[in-house]
Amino acid sequence: MARRGTSRGVTSRHRSLWWQSGVLYEVYPRSFGDASGDGVGDLAGITERLDYLEWLGVNAIWIAPFYPSPMADFGYDVADHTNVDPLFGSLDDFDVLLAEAHRRAIRVVVDYVPNHTSDRHPWFTDSRSSRDSPKRDWYVWRDAAPGSGPPNNWISMFGGSAWEWDEATSQYYLHSFLKQQPDINWREPAARQAMLGVLRFWLERGVDGFRIDVAQFVAKDPQLRDNPPNPHPERLAHLGEWRHQLHLYDHGHPDMHDIYREIRRLVDGYPGKRVTIGELHHPEFDVWARSYGQDLDEIHLPFNFHLLRADWNAASVRAVVDGISAALPAGAWANWVLGNHDQPRIASRVGQGQARVAMMLLLTLRGAPTLYYGDEIGMENATIPVDRLRDPWGITEPAQSRDPERTPMQWNGSANAGFCPPGVEPWLPLASDWQTRNVAAQRDDPSSLLGLTRRLLELRRTIPALIEGTYAPVDSAEGVFAYTRRLPDEPTLLVALNFTDEPRPLTLATDGRVVFSTDPHREQGLVRSPLRLAPSEGLLLELVDTA
Ligand code: GLC
Repeated sequence: MARRGTSRGVTSRHRSLWWQSGVLYEVYPRSFGDASGDGVGDLAGITERLDYLEWLGVNAIWIAPFYPSPMADFGYDVADHTNVDPLFGSLDDFDVLLAEAHRRAIRVVVDYVPNHTSDRHPWFTDSRSSRDSPKRDWYVWRDAAPGSGPPNNWISMFGGSAWEWDEATSQYYLHSFLKQQPDINWREPAARQAMLGVLRFWLERGVDGFRIDVAQFVAKDPQLRDNPPNPHPERLAHLGEWRHQLHLYDHGHPDMHDIYREIRRLVDGYPGKRVTIGELHHPEFDVWARSYGQDLDEIHLPFNFHLLRADWNAASVRAVVDGISAALPAGAWANWVLGNHDQPRIASRVGQGQARVAMMLLLTLRGAPTLYYGDEIGMENATIPVDRLRDPWGITEPAQSRDPERTPMQWNGSANAGFCPPGVEPWLPLASDWQTRNVAAQRDDPSSLLGLTRRLLELRRTIPALIEGTYAPVDSAEGVFAYTRRLPDEPTLLVALNFTDEPRPLTLATDGRVVFSTDPHREQGLVRSPLRLAPSEGLLLELVDTA
């Protein structure tokens, strides 16, 4: 095997930055650990679980919003950007979490919500108090259209018009999401400075970076033109009412790039190689890639969500990986996502067998992976009874509910899965399989999905080609996606993933040595071509030059 590094961190010849080589783990704070015992997770609950994350071997956590909020959109409606909601604890709890994470060499990335605030944010209260408020233009206010009605046809992502009438000042304000989430006007210099100040606050507190919420919404058409209808709404079936328009004007204006550059300059001005990660949903690879910036001076890692939409078969997944690799600007670092708090769970989407293949894909592609909490044990979408629905989007459009993927982390087989004390009702019900599918049940079983994930994370730390090696697809039998990862002076790696539930042949140009397989029955040692991949097997080989 290639040179080994230290148990965590980097090998001696490793040149990548932490956010390139590392694995980011998303913690949805309401559902990770409940230290206070009120049924809702909190910051101290995350701190209590840092030993687990260290054992697992992730390098960074991204914590979804924990700021004071009326929770209309579960924290994405921020009422104070520089504090902690009492539900989650206090700034002191945050400092403890940060210090404890850093002590374990785990970086901490926080959520930054630039597009909107809560309607209870003092900025908005001030803005809506009068047309003469000095903060009036911090938000987007407009008169009614001639006659009456909203200024244009824009619709909210969560359904209905994106404009809300304010009786007191007789104008509409824009909200791309809930009406409790008015959009900030980034074209207003003071509002812009205030939002940049939020970044400084957290950077000075020591965070390692930001995940930038709905980053492409920060700039809209200054003329607020109507969106045209979408001739192909069926292609966006996952988006509810929003799919009926072509969203040419309500987001994605090129001026967003200036904002990204400004954010980037600010973040890069702090020591420690901090990172910006943008939530960007551009279906075209080349448009998505522009957010790295022409001179790689915008977002370090624009989230790459394209695997979430790919049909789960070898050809479609390969097409995405090849397409992204081709679209990536020179010098830019790729990243891969298979789950987050807005997306159905991967194990429900592809099944438990393929969830193992998916994890292997995520952790062996060239680029930074993001792992959603619970995906390492194969958590599935929970069934939420109607009277326990919490997600506002799910309440207006049931098919869009994100509650199923936000249920409490399944730690063990005791009451409430160890998430909150017995007798307390967790804020969302547990998934029905919690007694058997949990961390405790899988922890000591190397053949479990948790064991597999941990082993792959370990291999990423010890085999430099898994981080820095080039990616090249290898033509293979139907249903198999194979690729090499190659680094000079290191053994070439071959990853072969069987996307079917049948055995598949694999032909190799040379012999190989088994480094890892998702199939516990795979014998270790040398393998000769042709070999047979077991159903849903993911195999990692070191190619052995026999010439
Ligand atoms: C992002 C968040 C999502 C939230 C929305 C509005 O998409 O990930 O959870 O509802 O922004 O802030």
